[in-house]
Amino acid sequence: MEMLPVTYSIPSWHEKSQLSSGDDFNVAIIGAGNVNFGSDEGPWNHSYRLEQKLGPRLKVVALIDPVLERSADVLAKKRASFVKSAYESTQTYKSVAEFAAAAMTPEQKPRMILIGCPPAFRGSDQVGRDIELQLLKLFPGIALFVEKPVAAGEVARAFTVANAIKQSQVICSVGYMLRYLKAVQMMKNIIKDNNLTVMCTIARYACAYESIAKSHWWNKPLSGGPIVEQGTHFCDLSRYFGGDVEIASVQAHSVEWDEEPGRLSKIRIDESTIEPENRIPRVTTANWKYKSGAVGTLTHLVALQGKAYSCEIEVYCDGYLLKLIDPYNAPILHVRRPGSDLDEVYTFEQDDPFLSEV
Ligand SMILES: NC(=O)c1ccc[n+]([C@@H]2O[C@H](COP(=O)([O-])OP(=O)(O)OC[C@H]3O[C@@H](n4cnc5c(N)ncnc54)[C@H](O)[C@@H]3O)[C@@H](O)[C@H]2O)c1
Repeated sequence: MEMLPVTYSIPSWHEKSQLSSGDDFNVAIIGAGNVNFGSDEGPWNHSYRLEQKLGPRLKVVALIDPVLERSADVLAKKRASFVKSAYESTQTYKSVAEFAAAAMTPEQKPRMILIGCPPAFRGSDQVGRDIELQLLKLFPGIALFVEKPVAAGEVARAFTVANAIKQSQVICSVGYMLRYLKAVQMMKNIIKDNNLTVMCTIARYACAYESIAKSHWWNKPLSGGPIVEQGTHFCDLSRYFGGDVEIASVQAHSVEWDEEPGRLSKIRIDESTIEPENRIPRVTTANWKYKSGAVGTLTHLVALQGKAYSCEIEVYCDGYLLKLIDPYNAPILHVRRPGSDLDEVYTFEQDDPFLSEV
């Protein structure tokens, strides 16, 4: 199956600046949950980044979530804070269709729609899972921001959505924010400036399973499994460096929950409540050939305890090793170049890829 081309056109973070003047910028937000409004789960919180980026220009015209109480809760907090002007006029709706049916002046229309609901409701052309297609029809020309994973259903249906977005030519960004890290952009620049060809990518993503206490995360049909749920960020980074993949070349193996090496001692949920066939693998390892001829591997592990994840990606080119360590928390980039066996080591202060992407 053909993959859509990889986009390389991320402007440098130096070119981005706080947008502090101009007209109101109307945004409609889909999903009143953690990724859009923050939690102690992690640094994600799109509404906060929009507030930082747009300042008083931000006007959230709609918040769409079937659970109205959740919308009311997050709006009450925003309206009680110094960013209340962005949320004073926010209307709540249970669905995109309800929002589209509401009377709206041209000034009230959104300029961007942020889709942060679970993947089960988007990324497909099936009724009830087709939020993007509904939006393209009901709000043509409006920019979209779609959270990852872009889909959790059938691949062919996901491509129907991807192609519809491409054909519509609307600006569309996906929540693969690691591309926007300064370290990742530096890796891209080293490759470009030295006219290098990527030979191989090696990605390793080891989560700290003891800290994952959401039972749906451990349930394959609900989460999509650890590769779709979180390894997808490293699939994206691998593809960002290696280009499109020969899908037929992908081979994978896993250590399942009931195999001896897959026995875990510190799972915080009661896994016995999940049907055996729905329990997640503990290790998944895959290798593939890129269309360029390069090769790639990914290993995802549900193995570490405590809180901190251990994640690294290595990119090899003739004479070069670019090794990115800990992209989520404190990115460190090791660069080995021709002429020396020693690594140059770079750290990046106060880099917020969520803000850069928004
Ligand atoms: N890029 C990242 O780093 C990152 C981080 C966290 C979450 N995510 C992704 O964001 C998505 C949402 O995750 P979350 O943690 O916010 O989940 P959540 O459970 O905290 O919130 C999801 C919200 O969506 C609402 N919802 C359900 N169906 C809906 C529908 N049809 N229309 C509108 N709203 C609907 C739910 O009621 C809930 O309030 C997931 O795909 C997740 O993988 C991405």
